[in-house]
Amino acid sequence: MTKSTRVEVLRDPGVLLHRISQLVTMRGDAGAGESGNAALPVAGARRGKMMREIGVIKDASVLISGGQIVAVGTSREVTRHPWLKEHRGEMIELDCRGKVVLPGFVDSHTHPVFVNPRLIDFEKRAAGADYEEIAAAGGGIRASIDGVRKASEAVLADHVSAALRQAQSQGTTTLEAKSGYGLDAASELKSLKAIRRAAGEWQGTVVSTFLGAHVPPPEFKQEPDKYVELLCAELLPKVARQKLAQYVDVFCERGAFTLPQTERILREATRHGLRTRVHVGQLTNTPLAAVLAHHPASLDHLDCLEKADISALAASETVATLLPGANYFLATKKYPPARKLIDAGAAVALATDYNPGTSPTISMPMVLSLACTQMRMTVEEALTAATINGAHALELGARKGSVEAGKDADLAFFEVDDYRELAYWFGANHCAAVMMAGRFADLF
Ligand code: NIG
Ligand code: FE
Repeated sequence: MTKSTRVEVLRDPGVLLHRISQLVTMRGDAGAGESGNAALPVAGARRGKMMREIGVIKDASVLISGGQIVAVGTSREVTRHPWLKEHRGEMIELDCRGKVVLPGFVDSHTHPVFVNPRLIDFEKRAAGADYEEIAAAGGGIRASIDGVRKASEAVLADHVSAALRQAQSQGTTTLEAKSGYGLDAASELKSLKAIRRAAGEWQGTVVSTFLGAHVPPPEFKQEPDKYVELLCAELLPKVARQKLAQYVDVFCERGAFTLPQTERILREATRHGLRTRVHVGQLTNTPLAAVLAHHPASLDHLDCLEKADISALAASETVATLLPGANYFLATKKYPPARKLIDAGAAVALATDYNPGTSPTISMPMVLSLACTQMRMTVEEALTAATINGAHALELGARKGSVEAGKDADLAFFEVDDYRELAYWFGANHCAAVMMAGRFADLF
C-alpha cells in the first residue's frame, strides 16, 4: 500500500456493508450461541469439530472504519451500534443483498516467481511419464531455473503482480509467496526482491518465504551438501539481514533434500530469527517427529503419512497444509488423508501451491471443490481451512482469516445465495469483489 492510500484509509468515512444474504464470519465463538460480536476470538487454529463452526449470519451487516472491522452482526444489531448512530451520515452504505461474504481467502502456499509455463512437462505427462521421471530427464523444477536467472527483478515482479491480480479476482486477500526457481545466490535474492516489489503495489497482504532449498541446482547436482553449505553460510544470513523473507522453506523429498540436510537448514533459519515451513511427504514418507521438533509454522503436502505422523501433527501447534491442486494436476492416485487428519485433531489448512510444475492454479474456489470432492472434507471444514487456518499457517491469525471486530477488513464477495455454492460450482468464478484493508479493489 502506498503512503497516499494509507492516509486515505485513515480519513475514510467508514463503510457499512448492509443486508448481506449470508456472512461467513469464522468468528472465534462460532457454535457457542447466536450471532453477535465476538469479544475474545478463540486463540489458535481450528481443529476437529470446531472446523465445522463457521459462524454464518443471515441478513448480516459489517461496519468498517480505518481499514478494520468495527462491528459484525445481524443487520438489526449493527443498525443499533452506537458508532454507527454517531457516524451514519458520513458513511458509505452498500446494499449486499444477493451476496455471500466471507473473510478473504488466505492462500498460504504459492510459488509465483517463475517466467514460463512448463508445457513440455505437461505434454510428457499427458503421454504417460510421471513427475519424477520428467524431473530426472531435466524437466521439473530445474526446467524453470533458466527463465528466472535470465529475467530482471522488474520482469519477475510483473509475473508476481499478474499472479496477485488473478488470486484477488477469485477472492484471495492474503498470499504467501516463495522464491525457489533461481537457486543461486543472485537469483534467489532477486526473486525475493521481486516478491517485495509486487507486494508493495498490491492492496492485499503478502508473506514472503525463502525456498532456496527447493532442489540442488544442476551445478551442485553431484555435491548437494555444498549447496546446503552455500544456503546456510551465505544466503540465509543475507536473507535475514536484508529482511527479505519471514519464512524459510525446504523441499524435504527424494530427489530434493534429505532429512539431515533439511534439519540443518531449519536449525540455521531459526538461528537467524526466521520462522520455518517444510514441503514434506509429497512423494514418499518422511517421519514427521524430527521435522516437528523444529516447530515449523506449517508442514505442506502430507500425501504420504503413517499413523504416527498423524498423531504427531495432531499433538503439535504446526498447521497441516494440504495442496490438492498438485494431486489433481499430477493425477496422483491418492490425495492427502484430510479426514484422518481432521478427525485426529490436526489443524488443517488448504492452499493452491500455485506453481508451473505441479499446480498451475491460483484459484482457492477450485481448491475448495477438490477438498470436498476428493478428500471428503465438508464445505464448512474447507472454508475454515482456506481462511482462518490459512491465516494461522502464516501466524497471522490475530489479524486475518475471520470477520470479527478488531481484525483487518479483508473480505471477499460472491454472487451466490448459499455459501456451499463456493465449493459446488467448480471451474467458475463467482467472486464479484474483494475488499482489502477496508478498500474495494478493481477485480480486473
Ligand atoms: O510444491 N514440491 C515441490 N515444489 C512444488 C513443485 C515445484 C515444481 O514442480 O515446479 C510443489 O509441488
Ligand atoms: Fe509447493
